[in-house]
Order: sequence, then C-alpha cells, then structure tokens
Amino acid sequence: MTTDTSTTDSRHQAWSTMSVPVGPGHADPAAPPPASQRGAEYAAERAADRPRVAGLRCRNCGRAEETGPSFVCPQCFGPFEVVRAQVSRAKVEARGPGIWRYLELLPVDEAPSRGLAVGSTPLIRADRLGKEIGLAAGRLHLKDDTRNPTLSFKDRVVAIAAARAVQFGFDTLACASTGNLAGATAAAAAAIGLRAVVFVPANLEPAKIDHALSYGATVVPVNGTYDDINRLSLEIADEEGWAFVNVNLRPYYAEGSKTLAFEVAEQLGWRLPDAIVAPIASGSLFTKVARGFEDLVAAGLVEDKPVRFIGAQAAGCSPVAQAFAEGTDEIRPVRNPDTIVRSLAIGSPADGRYSLALARRTGGSIESIPDQATAAAIRRLGRTEGIFAETAGGVTVAGLEQAVARGLIGPDDEVVALITGNGVKTPDAKWFGVEDAVPGHAGAGGLAAAIEPSYSAFVRAGLA
Ligand SMILES: Cc1ncc(COP(=O)(O)O)c(C=O)c1O
Ligand SMILES: [Zn+2]
Repeated sequence: MTTDTSTTDSRHQAWSTMSVPVGPGHADPAAPPPASQRGAEYAAERAADRPRVAGLRCRNCGRAEETGPSFVCPQCFGPFEVVRAQVSRAKVEARGPGIWRYLELLPVDEAPSRGLAVGSTPLIRADRLGKEIGLAAGRLHLKDDTRNPTLSFKDRVVAIAAARAVQFGFDTLACASTGNLAGATAAAAAAIGLRAVVFVPANLEPAKIDHALSYGATVVPVNGTYDDINRLSLEIADEEGWAFVNVNLRPYYAEGSKTLAFEVAEQLGWRLPDAIVAPIASGSLFTKVARGFEDLVAAGLVEDKPVRFIGAQAAGCSPVAQAFAEGTDEIRPVRNPDTIVRSLAIGSPADGRYSLALARRTGGSIESIPDQATAAAIRRLGRTEGIFAETAGGVTVAGLEQAVARGLIGPDDEVVALITGNGVKTPDAKWFGVEDAVPGHAGAGGLAAAIEPSYSAFVRAGLA
C-alpha cells in the first residue's frame, strides 16, 4: 500500500494505513517517510498494531453486535455504539494534524486514503472574553471549530461516517440536517467521490442551503421540522439503501465528536479541564465529548478528574434544559421550535436523556438561552476575541455567561467552551433584537451611514 500523492487539490488529504496521516492541509515536517521507504519490518510492525474495532454494543442492554451498518438494538431498540481499544501519547504526537491522529480511539480499522482535512482546530486562550464575564486570566479557552473545512464541527462526525460508508460499499451519502450537517455531508461526499443527497427544513437559512449546493449535492427542502425529516430519512435509508450519516451510520458518526475531547485534552497538555460548555441539539456532541474524556482516561492518556458538563439550548427549542430546570427525567418533545438558532432546533433529541443525566451527574447544568442573549453573545465573542460564531456558538457563549453568573463556574475554574459553527452561515443572527443599526463612531462597532469620499464628510459624520 502506498500513500496517494496523485491529488493536488489542497482540500484533500492523502493518507495510508502504512504511514502517518499527512496532507497538504496538514503538512507535518516531523512525519516519518512512507512505509515503502522503511522496509518490510516496519510495515509488519504497523500491520500488527493496526487498531481493531471490537464491534457494536447496545447502550441500553449491552447486547454485542458485529460491526456493520446497524444502529438499533434488535432486542430492546436501544442505540448501538462502538466498542474498542489501545494507544499512547507518543504515538499520537508522532502523527500529523487532523482527527486521524487518534486513529486507535476511532471506530475505523484504518485511516481513509481520501477525505477532507478535518480537525486540529485551535484552542484559544480567551482572556478578553473571560475578563468581561468574570473569569480570571488564562482560565477560559475556546475550541475554535468554526475553522473546519465546511466551517462547523460537523466535519468531524461526517468524516468518520463517510469512511465507514465507503468501507460498507454505499454509493450515496445522505443526511437529515438542521443546516451545518448538510454542508459537511455534501463536501465529504465530493471529496471521496460519493453522491450526496441532503434533507433540510424548507425554512433553513439560505446561506446553509447554498453552502451544500456549492459541493454539488442534491438538496431536498422538506416542509416540516427536523424530527419529521429524521423520520423520513429512516424510511429512505431503508428503501433506497443510502448511507445516512446520522441515521443508519449514527454509531460511527457520533464517535466523531469525541475528537473534540481528544484535541482539547492534548492541547491542554494531556489534561482535562474543570468544565466544558457545549451546545445541545440531539445531545450527541455533548455526551460524546464526555465519552471521549473517559476513553482518554481508560487508555491511560490523561489522569481522571471530575469535569462539569454545561450544555446550552435555545429557549425556543429547549426540551433538555426544561427537564433540567424542572428536575424531571421526562423530556417533553417540542413540536414547533421557535428560535433563530436553527442549527440546534431538534424538538425530540435522541440523546436528550443521556445529556440530562451527564449534566446532573457531573454537577453541571443545561442552560436555556433566549434569542436576544444569543445574538448579544455572538457580538461579544466577535468583539472580544475575533471569532465570528454561528447561532450555536452564541448559545454556548451565553450559556457560559449564565453558568458563571449563577456561580456554577467559578472565576478560577479552567473552562473550555466549544464554538462549533461559523457565523458566515448565519450572517443576520447577530443583529436579532437590535432595533436600529448601531451608529458607527471611533472605538465602537456598527455600520455607519455612507459618506462622501472627503475628510470633512468623515468628520461631519462624527467618525473622527
Ligand atoms: C453548529 C452546531 N453546533 C452544535 C450542534 C449540536 O449537535 P448535536 O446534535 O450533536 O447535539 C449542531 C447540530 O446540528 C450544530 O450545527
Ligand atoms: Zn439493547
């Protein structure tokens, strides 16, 4: 097996099972030469330590199942998840950037030879934002996942599902999307040469529809909620034999979110933070980050320590936050989500009760965020840290603010907030609830009225 060097497109990464993952997007000068130059002994050693996926296991009843495109337990209808094995810090550190650095902790047998350059996004020390909301210097970090190939963390989950789709021999990659997943699925399919069909709510932001179209996908707007689309997708997956990344390939898809946990821990110097703040739609990301930390502990890569999990939802679709506030285990589905935060508008979250249990078990919370607070948080994040977030990022930052204000997070806690999507996908959201465009003047932001191209006009407009 040789490393594929034929692709010149910088979006693509060439990988080989016999060499470390390296590509144009993630060049690593320290990477060893390909196996073909290092002899049979090394190749044999690599083959011997190649990771194995142990299989699937029902999260509910524990039933074991062979690896395959199954997602519900035939015994109890519980969700299947992937069980697996072994790695070291040195092994990870010797590899190039990207999610495949953590190969042994991922539900694939080998790194795929083609795909987008996903992951290894920056963990940013956010002192200016931290100071504004009451955290000591050096304590707040932002995981900037606005910088993935299609501008959201969804590239992580799709990369894993897509690798499996190829292995299972599917020719069509599909998804039921609240928006960001559509673009991620479309681009991943393009990068590996599968057909993409994405299903989105008909009222989705135009920028997100256009984004998916840009990668050559068939975009199907559906007159209904995400939950309606999810049901439809189940049927289509069954009838058409398509790989729906978040439906029939969900066990693999879900594992992709663990890479956020792996990267955060490694970027903190192989340590866990005191608290994580993350958005919740289905609750997959939220719960899998916790599982990712557990995997790192189990693999001996980090020391165990309690991490508080603080989730955030938009008030207009907050079934998990509501159950948390009411102290009940029952998550009442939201039939008609009403929020500018479309990316988190899942009325009946698949991992809702696991998210609830996680927040309670760890001494965290699930915060409910009104749209105006989301918009204000998007502006605050942009103004203080130079990161433009999508609505889910606004919900996360507002959730962080609320948790600090309520004393759930102390000033000296080490906090990591996951900024999962880029603001260019929801350009208007930041002005929600703002009556008139903020007047522009030196030192404060806002759109000034157009001026004539003269210095006197500039002064007259009060901009000096
Ligand atoms: C930007 C962004 N962040 C977070 C999420 C939450 O994902 P999950 O369904 O895993 O809770 C989504 C889901 O669509 C999203 O688009
Ligand atoms: Zn079961």
